[in-house]
Amino acid sequence: MDEQFKALVVDSDGEVTEHAVKTVAIDQLHEGDTLVEVHCSSLNYKDMLALQHCGGVIREYPMIPGIDAVGKIIESTHSKAKVGEWVFLASTPAGNTHTGGIAEYLRVPYEWFLSVPENLSPKETMILGTAGLTAAYCVWALEEHGMHVQDQPEILVTGASGGVGSIALSILKKIGYTQVTAMIRKNSQETLVRQLGAKEVVSPEEFAGDRPLNHRKYHYVIDCVGGEVASHAMRYIYEYGSMAMCGNAGGIAFNTTVLPMILRGVNLLGIHTGDLSNDFRQMLWKRLATDWRVVGHVYYDEVTLDKIDEPVTQLKEGQHLGRTLVKIR
Ligand SMILES: NC(=O)c1ccc[n+]([C@@H]2O[C@H](COP(=O)([O-])OP(=O)(O)OC[C@H]3O[C@@H](n4cnc5c(N)ncnc54)[C@H](OP(=O)(O)O)[C@@H]3O)[C@@H](O)[C@H]2O)c1
Repeated sequence: MDEQFKALVVDSDGEVTEHAVKTVAIDQLHEGDTLVEVHCSSLNYKDMLALQHCGGVIREYPMIPGIDAVGKIIESTHSKAKVGEWVFLASTPAGNTHTGGIAEYLRVPYEWFLSVPENLSPKETMILGTAGLTAAYCVWALEEHGMHVQDQPEILVTGASGGVGSIALSILKKIGYTQVTAMIRKNSQETLVRQLGAKEVVSPEEFAGDRPLNHRKYHYVIDCVGGEVASHAMRYIYEYGSMAMCGNAGGIAFNTTVLPMILRGVNLLGIHTGDLSNDFRQMLWKRLATDWRVVGHVYYDEVTLDKIDEPVTQLKEGQHLGRTLVKIR
């Protein structure tokens, strides 16, 4: 094991926040019983926010970002850990309050890791990453609230060109949902979302307006955008439909009235992957490895540690498509 290694480090003096690939020492990693040699990480919207000034993700600097990582255990004092075991993590405190995965080494409590499931390669866990976990959680939550494939409900996915949205489209298609509409902002994304299973495409502008309720269009919504998009989507949901709400890419304000809830019985389902139990995570990952296995359809590209600025800028400026892997080894 190298005592000195490379990591992406974000630092802030309160006025300016900067990031760079730096050489760091193992003892600069936060405490944890398990040390992993990272092979691959991935970029999520949250990782982009982590690099921004006042991005709301990191509170203590310097910090190594990266909420997703896969690699091999090289040292551990945990009784269940095996040296050489492939493990991964997605959406844990790593990369937020604990040094994270965009680095050659990662040290965290063993309990934060999951074993790489059968039927997924280590790289495939990162193609899916937190985005895949979130998409699976959204679909699971809607099915728990009455979404059944035999009814062929009308489903809207907002932010459909992004990591979460595109994987959600793929899962819905894989299970057999055919009446899926993708909300996108750019015509150039239409071919991709149709390939992933969307039968129709809408733009956010088509939803604008002040009416507290609109004509019914969708039984279920997976919302990755938040802000005005989510506020408007609520008004188009049929009686007793549900919206799984996971994102804030379009803003955190959520302006609605009580009418969708009290006149149509609409359910708003919050999606938060950060504090899920390991049993629940494992259940979702097992599905992503078996009956919801869509990883072969996920659009992704790959960059090395020193080339992450371009996809980060794309994520920030709304020019990013699908998923980006960060190849570490
Ligand atoms: N709750 C959780 O546990 C959890 C977990 C993972 C992710 N998330 C959140 O989920 C969201 C999506 O994550 P991601 O990784 O999929 O991000 P992403 O790859 O950057 O995708 C964001 C998507 O939102 C669209 N979008 C952004 N601003 C918009 C606006 N103003 N109007 C309409 N569409 C807009 C983008 O469209 P363009 O292609 O046109 O830019 C893109 O399709 C993020 O907010 C992320 O923080 C939450």
